[in-house]
Order: sequence, then C-alpha cells, then structure tokens
Amino acid sequence: MVVLGIVYRVSRCNEYTLVDVAPLVADVDAGKVERIVDNLLANAVKHTPAGTPIWLRIEACPGGVLLVVEDAGPGIPRELAAGIFEPFYQGPGDHPSPGSGIGLSLVAKFAELHGGRTWVEDRPGGGASFRVELPCSVIPMDSISERNAHPT
Ligand SMILES: Nc1ncnc2c1ncn2[C@@H]1O[C@H](COP(=O)(O)OP(=O)(O)OP(=O)(O)O)[C@@H](O)[C@H]1O
Ligand SMILES: [Mg+2]
Repeated sequence: MVVLGIVYRVSRCNEYTLVDVAPLVADVDAGKVERIVDNLLANAVKHTPAGTPIWLRIEACPGGVLLVVEDAGPGIPRELAAGIFEPFYQGPGDHPSPGSGIGLSLVAKFAELHGGRTWVEDRPGGGASFRVELPCSVIPMDSISERNAHPT
C-alpha cells in the first residue's frame, strides 16, 4: 500500500509549476508508479514550450486509480497515438534530442505489469492528456482519518 499524495515541483527555466494531488491510499507498486509519473512529467516538460502549464491528477476510478498528466503543448497527432508507446520511437521534431525514446514504452510496460493500460487523448483546450489506469484497491484518506478518530 502506498499513499498517493504527491506534490511535485517541476523545474523549468527557473519557473515552477506546482501540481498537487488529493491523497488516497492505493495498493500499488510504489516504484513502478513513481517511474510512470516521473516519465510522464519529464515528457510534459521536455516536449512542450517553456512556461506552459502541466497538470497531474490522481483519482479513484471504478476498480482502481486513474493517473492523468496533461499539458498545453503541441499534443499528439491521432495517427501517432499508438506508435509513441513503442520502444525507441521519437517524434519527427525531436532530433537531435536528449533521450532515446524509451520513456513512454516503460510507462506502458509498467502499467501492463500492473494489469492496467495507458493511452493518450487530446486535452480539451489543446495539448496532450496521458492517462494510466491501474487496477488496485483504494482507500480514501479521509476514511482512514475517520477510522483513527473513531476506532471500533
Ligand atoms: N507531452 C508530450 N507532448 C508532445 N509530444 C510528446 C509528449 N510526450 C511524448 N511525446 C512524443 O513521444 C515521443 C516518445 O516519448 P518517449 O518518452 O518514449 O521518448 P523521449 O521523451 O523522446 O526520450 P526518453 O523518454 O527516452 O528520454 C517523444 O519523442 C515525443 O515526440
Ligand atoms: Mg520521454
């Protein structure tokens, strides 16, 4: 079980985008989830213009949790939406670019090892919306505080 109550600071050209997440307790592999979130945030920083916002949401969904990393960058063209999760794929505008095109393939692999799935959508208003669904049991943080306050 890990507490997904993360506050991430994303450094970008001396600006900070602060993203916070409502805490919940989920039965997930913490190392894998951390890598998933790190890789998606790193992409949102690297593949969008400096100074544009990035959002991270982690919420309970039927049967587990949904992680969402969104940006206001160029987005992903529909025809590439499946291909970008293949190992070593890098977009046409990314050469020469640091990195080797493995970040998203690891995100997809780790989600799969968790019995989950990953996909990308257009963000309403422009940009990419990367989504990772992870089946797991979830306990809202407030019910834990309540349980501690009123033990049976
Ligand atoms: N948020 C995003 N906005 C626009 N394009 C993106 C975004 N995230 C990924 N991409 C595109 O998908 C490609 C594959 O991403 P991936 O994370 O696998 O590789 P990378 O970021 O290029 O390198 P690495 O992750 O190995 O450092 C990127 O090269 C880029 O073209
Ligand atoms: Mg990457």
